[in-house]
Amino acid sequence: MKTVEDLKRMREQFQSQTKLRHAGGIQIIVGMGTCGIAAGAREVMSAILDEIAKRKLQDVTVRQTGCIGMCEKEVLVDVVRPDEPRITYGKVTPAAVSKIIGEHVVNGRIVEELVVGKISQ
Ligand code: FES
Repeated sequence: MKTVEDLKRMREQFQSQTKLRHAGGIQIIVGMGTCGIAAGAREVMSAILDEIAKRKLQDVTVRQTGCIGMCEKEVLVDVVRPDEPRITYGKVTPAAVSKIIGEHVVNGRIVEELVVGKISQ
């Protein structure tokens, strides 16, 4: 049984998540489940953070997620630009990061040769 306080807390949490979702920024999500890490997700994550710092990008949120169920395609990186389909890139290496960020994150041009999934918003 939930108390009124629990419900209030849940509502506040939901509202802040909703705000985040509508904040309008670009999201980069790195698959960091066991197989992602084994495939080099830490190095990819660090290359992403370096590239964002180098380009002084604002309004880009980087986060990690767990197992997505596509081990063979790791390292998986999703790019979500506001009001555009969510794009999943597969077999991402640190070397590919600069292209994904330069083309897609900054200019909105999807790097088709690395795409393994597309989800319409
Ligand atoms: S362990 Fe590889 S996708 Fe889950």
